[in-house]
Amino acid sequence: MDRLLVTGGARLAGTVRVSGAKNAALKHMAAALLAPGRSVVRNVPRILDCTLMGRVLEHLGVPVTWEGDAVSIDATTLTSTEAPYELVRQMRASIVVLGPLLARAGRARVALPGGDEIGSRPIDLHVHGLAKLGARIRTEHGFVVAEAPDGLRGAVITLDYPSVGATENLMMAAVAARGTTVIDNAAREPEIADVADLLVAMGARVAGAGTSTIEIDGVGVDAFHPVEHATMPDRIESGTWAAAAVATRGDITIAGARADHLDLLLGKLADAGATVDRTEDGVRVRQAERPTAVDFVTLPYPGLATDFQPILMAALAVARGTSIATENVFESRFLYVDELRRMGADIRTEGHHAVIRGVERLSAAPVRALDIRAGAAMVIAALTADGRTSIADVHHLDRGYEDLERKLTTLGAEVRRDGEPVVVPDPAAAR
Ligand code: UD1
Repeated sequence: MDRLLVTGGARLAGTVRVSGAKNAALKHMAAALLAPGRSVVRNVPRILDCTLMGRVLEHLGVPVTWEGDAVSIDATTLTSTEAPYELVRQMRASIVVLGPLLARAGRARVALPGGDEIGSRPIDLHVHGLAKLGARIRTEHGFVVAEAPDGLRGAVITLDYPSVGATENLMMAAVAARGTTVIDNAAREPEIADVADLLVAMGARVAGAGTSTIEIDGVGVDAFHPVEHATMPDRIESGTWAAAAVATRGDITIAGARADHLDLLLGKLADAGATVDRTEDGVRVRQAERPTAVDFVTLPYPGLATDFQPILMAALAVARGTSIATENVFESRFLYVDELRRMGADIRTEGHHAVIRGVERLSAAPVRALDIRAGAAMVIAALTADGRTSIADVHHLDRGYEDLERKLTTLGAEVRRDGEPVVVPDPAAAR
């Protein structure tokens, strides 16, 4: 069993460089499917999810090679249009190949992802939007099958909810449609603008990505050429280090972090007592005293990201006073709270609210990482606990955090892995 052993008590201090954004790099890799030829995506984190996306692409007949943080994707020919259950089950973001495949090949068959630990995650918005673009869609044998043998056509699509994945899938399909597409109530996450930048470099015409209205002039599937693109820094990883600084009363400089992507989080941490400074190349977060309680609410961007929720909860578990957290994006995103409670956290949840009564110190215990960010919450909690916490199912952390142990150790934490590590850096070996 893979476990991370974290000894509590260290005050994290020093500089850590943030990796490329998982949630943008995965979509950049999928977007490479649109252009015949070899595209290169740089600043891709060496994490399990990106390895899995590489395997999805290889399943489609597209060779993927890694060199350092650069992934080279040769989409000259596609030999399949199917993303199999075995891969989608391991990473539901595989669903974003649906749009580019449909655009490029006129057909896609992608396994339905199913539920996961942060609540039911349907794909109805992806499906309705693609149908508006003229795709015929059905589900059969656990797969969603989309077909547009005569190509897609532009349409006005108003999303019921600003879903990140649906916005991206629709954008990557609409770029090849005939005519103009408008996506209204689009998600505004910075990763969406980064995906649009790659598409534009590839020959697409996209305006307004990063706002609620995205306008796409379809250029037809033959207009795309391969590109080189560097992925933006990971704002969720940046926020994880910022929260770790606050929880451990530390002093962390997060090199490469974009403060403008972290406004609300950094504001909350400042309310909790942190001193936040922009540096030339990132953000420095210092915490002198025990943090004080703050309330927070998660919302689609520019609201506070739901991915910060578990991370903030772990920091507030040791704050002075009582905080109230409200989760508005995913249902059941409090399942991991039971793990924090096992460490002595005083947290009560009801529906989508949580009441966190800060305790002076958490108590080391065997716990599990239930998903990527819940895993990060366990690490932060473990850093503030007395004794050594053992975090099981650490493969969830490997899905989203590059070089976690090395980065933690550089900052002064005592951490080591117990058991067989998941081999992430060499995608060929993981096949
Ligand atoms: C992405 C991120 C994830 C982040 C989330 C919200 C990736 C790989 N993952 O996930 O880290 O937590 O954005 O910022 O980029 N929904 C529907 N129908 C749909 C699609 C979504 O009801 O067709 C609902 C979901 O169940 C959820 C909410 O919309 O409650 C948000 O989901 P969405 O924005 O789509 O998140 P993802 O793209 O899956």
